[in-house]
Amino acid sequence: MSTIGIIGAGQAGSTLARAVITSGYDVVIANSRGPETLASLVAALGPRARAATPAEAASAADLVVLAFPYRPTDRLPTTQLAGKVVLDNNNYMPWRDGIYPEVVAGRKTVHELRQEQLPEAKVVKAFTHVQFHARSEIRVPDDELPAVVRLARPAGAPDRKALVVSSDFPEAVEAVTRLYDDLGFDAVDNSPLSESWRSGPGTPMWPHHVDGQSREELVRNLQRAERLPR
Ligand SMILES: NC(=O)c1ccc[n+]([C@@H]2O[C@H](COP(=O)([O-])OP(=O)(O)OC[C@H]3O[C@@H](n4cnc5c(N)ncnc54)[C@H](OP(=O)(O)O)[C@@H]3O)[C@@H](O)[C@H]2O)c1
Repeated sequence: MSTIGIIGAGQAGSTLARAVITSGYDVVIANSRGPETLASLVAALGPRARAATPAEAASAADLVVLAFPYRPTDRLPTTQLAGKVVLDNNNYMPWRDGIYPEVVAGRKTVHELRQEQLPEAKVVKAFTHVQFHARSEIRVPDDELPAVVRLARPAGAPDRKALVVSSDFPEAVEAVTRLYDDLGFDAVDNSPLSESWRSGPGTPMWPHHVDGQSREELVRNLQRAERLPR
């Protein structure tokens, strides 16, 4: 896999595009307003990036990132996403994304709803708890970098951090584990999607989205999570 489709070109999508291009991938990136509105971003990303419609970005890759806020009413390129590994990086915010009673009551996770919305895709929750922007308090020059870049370390480094991955499909977990490794992170498998509430906002692992956590810390924090209605 050498091309990644990214649907959503805001803070998360554009930063992830930059990070994966640095790791040697090509990127096809889309937003809601059309490829012509992405000309300056694509110019800044360089020759490994091109702008497209969401359907074209979904067609172009076996791994496609949905880097925009979740709404079950969104029109997604379901045909083009069929059979693909689809990364969902949404952190459910009712004030922004709308109220979904089964999620608010803790009966389902937003990622299970996304899987229902894309029944032929292999949805995987990934990259939800690493910041795609600068540290809010700049103490040293590196703090200007988004956490997904600032915290990256080579495999085996003693201070390597870990990110969570959750899916109902082991092959999707494997694909994201490889991608995390390429970007400089270990993976902790917190599958299936019904368990993915353990890495949501407000859980014990959550405050570490600024400075990261080791694999051991992350496993411990996922185990400590308690399910609360939200
Ligand atoms: N920012 C972070 O540090 C961070 C960290 C972890 C997770 N996340 C998650 O990442 C997602 C995106 O957050 P963000 O901060 O990047 O938001 P953002 O800066 O507001 O960007 C949203 C992007 O999504 C596009 N978009 C919206 N609806 C779309 C649709 N139906 N089809 C195609 N593109 C669409 C927008 O394009 P237009 O402008 O053309 O509408 C825009 O490029 C959220 O779910 C958030 O919870 C963000």
